[in-house]
Amino acid sequence: MPAPGAEPPPAAPRHTVGDLVALSTQHLTARGVASPRLDAELVVAEGLGLGRLDLYTGPERPVTPAERDAVRALLARRARHEPMAYILGRKGFRRLELAVTPDVLVPRPETELVVEWVVAHAPPGARVLDWGTGSGAIALALADERPDLAVTAVDVSEAALSVARANAARRRDGAADVDFVRSDGFAALAGTTFDLVVANPPYLSDAELAAAPPELAFEPAGALTAGPRGDEALARLCADVPAHLAPGGAVITEIGETQAAAVSQLMAQAGLTGIRVHRDLAGKPRAVSAVKQ
Ligand SMILES: C[S@@+](CC[C@H](N)C(=O)[O-])C[C@H]1O[C@@H](n2cnc3c(N)ncnc32)[C@H](O)[C@@H]1O
Repeated sequence: MPAPGAEPPPAAPRHTVGDLVALSTQHLTARGVASPRLDAELVVAEGLGLGRLDLYTGPERPVTPAERDAVRALLARRARHEPMAYILGRKGFRRLELAVTPDVLVPRPETELVVEWVVAHAPPGARVLDWGTGSGAIALALADERPDLAVTAVDVSEAALSVARANAARRRDGAADVDFVRSDGFAALAGTTFDLVVANPPYLSDAELAAAPPELAFEPAGALTAGPRGDEALARLCADVPAHLAPGGAVITEIGETQAAAVSQLMAQAGLTGIRVHRDLAGKPRAVSAVKQ
């Protein structure tokens, strides 16, 4: 207790929500994070249990030391370039919010292109296979937007399938309407055919991985690459897919932006026709589709 008449000790500075956002943005900028302001807002909102909008409506709200520590812990992870989706444990894809863990690739906006194509082109009631489902992003988005489809999803990773199954169980209606199967490629699907096969296989080369942003080091290697050239899984998919397509069935696969010609050739070699390269909103080749006569 201060002696009578003595000055009270200075109070520890109280941070506000606005201060935390500003300091976090500075920290992430200094660490070379690509979108420091956005990520700072996401981290602060998550640490405080608020929505992002609350940061704008209540920037003067004081922050308790416990809240500041919670934000700091999340901020330290982002400063080490851990993907935001792993820190939050979730990622939006099409109309869904998916749980994601380091056992699965973070679903990318580019992949929405192949979903869009299947949603638009699958005949009513079509049997669709999602090859390499990861978090279940493609399969669950299709089941959500085209409930008439019969969707099967395979992955070689049992850990990824657990995440995908949990995402299926979390769906609004709780319906597990996707059949998840552990399979190395088509190995567990002998004798089964589909009307449509959709894939986002691992397709990065060693050189692309070496030059990739540090965030990718947190993602499962088997989701990013299948070999030094980058096209190993694509080559296997193209060679194997005709045996699993019904007559008139189609395949669409996401590709790296330099792989359109090579994958088109692989599809032609596999006897597929009607080969088409699909470009993303930036005009880059992003997927190739083909049909089995
Ligand atoms: C690029 S990730 C795509 C994940 C998800 N479809 C997405 O778009 O977010 C590729 C997925 O293919 C799986 N995979 C890799 N090789 C495979 C194989 N031989 N057979 C089945 N799945 C495979 C990986 O485990 C990974 O989940």
